[in-house]
Amino acid sequence: MKPILICDDVYIISVNDRRKHLFENMWPLPYGVAYNCYMIDDEKTALLDTVELGSTNNFMSYIDNILKGRQLDYLIINHMEPDHSGEIQNIITKYPNVKIAGNRQTFKILQSYFNYTENLIEVTDGYELNLGRHNLKFVTTPMVHWPESMMTYDTENQILFSQDAFGSFGTLDGKIFDDEADFCESEMRRYYSNIVGKHSPMVQKAFDKLQNFKIKIICPVHGIVWRKNPAEVLEYYRKWSNYESKAGVLILFASMYGNTEQIADHIARKIVENDVKNVRVYDVSKTHVSYLMSEAWQYGTIVLGSCSYNGEMHPMMEIFCREMEHYKLKNRNLALFGTGSWSGGGLRNLQKFAENIGWEQIAEPVEIKGMPDNNKLAEFDIFAKSISDYCKK
Ligand SMILES: Cc1cc2nc3c(=O)[nH]c(=O)nc-3n(C[C@H](O)[C@H](O)[C@H](O)COP(=O)(O)O)c2cc1C
Ligand SMILES: [Fe+2]
Ligand SMILES: [Fe+2]
Repeated sequence: MKPILICDDVYIISVNDRRKHLFENMWPLPYGVAYNCYMIDDEKTALLDTVELGSTNNFMSYIDNILKGRQLDYLIINHMEPDHSGEIQNIITKYPNVKIAGNRQTFKILQSYFNYTENLIEVTDGYELNLGRHNLKFVTTPMVHWPESMMTYDTENQILFSQDAFGSFGTLDGKIFDDEADFCESEMRRYYSNIVGKHSPMVQKAFDKLQNFKIKIICPVHGIVWRKNPAEVLEYYRKWSNYESKAGVLILFASMYGNTEQIADHIARKIVENDVKNVRVYDVSKTHVSYLMSEAWQYGTIVLGSCSYNGEMHPMMEIFCREMEHYKLKNRNLALFGTGSWSGGGLRNLQKFAENIGWEQIAEPVEIKGMPDNNKLAEFDIFAKSISDYCKK
């Protein structure tokens, strides 16, 4: 897409990437992803971040179109991850006098990537850079989600250039602003939970720092620009970084031959019969862990069931549990069940996960041997009742 004016001399340059299958070679991109960067064409000119190298052949010509022969005075680096720093080398080559604004951490990474140490303006919290009409203020937001991550605030237009924060998966498809887009909450939550969520306590610290800023427009480096209702996206982040959840039950199962799945469906039905309506069941072998993570970030109660596998839980369930332990999601309730044909292992290892993650267990765990007949399923009626009773409290 060609640069598009956001307001007085402020442009977005956004590249839609529909080719990449896996973001960070890990997270599926069914709707692609967009890399955004921003340009301010004031008395002094400034580029805020760049895009992934190779995502477009036209990046430099977009910049030229805005500059129309003028020099680029400043490159502001809010985040060094290669999906935003990819074009830095080309910028430095074309505009060798450009001054680069970043913090101390930024410059360490800049040197390690591009071996570049000149024309640096080291900024800290509250540092101001005047471009003429626009005045930029910097807010360091360490570990949201890299050590050098920071945001830039335009005091003239009250724009927050928020780097990865408030970003989302998904290409823009011509829809740049929140008032133009059919906003997809689930893809933004999947982005938050998998990319930023591990650092939720640092997101909270960033919120504290931003408290006194009046924010009219939020410009993230992925996803739409929030100009109509920035409060909406701020509220999502407040909720997610506080580990708030909605009522409902997420049931995740791992099953090779269908026994554990049959139990999961039985539990789901019983919970619904007990008047808890918001129930969702996933097969962890079928649904990519990034979606499971995103669902875990919204459901208050999580039920995990695994068959036994060589004395362990099923490896696909292990992946989910490992991710959860890494991301340290908090304030969830848990219920566990397992299946096996000899000495078990599924439930035993789910119990270890429960100890590690520290979530409260709200039902007595159940493990059955062999296939679930009516007698064995009856054990899960009690299990489901404990879960429903807890949810209705
Ligand atoms: C490769 C493999 C390894 C297994 N390892 C164990 C085990 O260590 N302990 C156990 O009790 N059952 C073990 N089982 C049996 C299954 O856990 C058991 O049949 C269970 O009911 C399968 O549930 P599912 O139908 O949901 O896959 C294993 C089965 C397979 C195929
Ligand atoms: Fe990033
Ligand atoms: Fe990014």
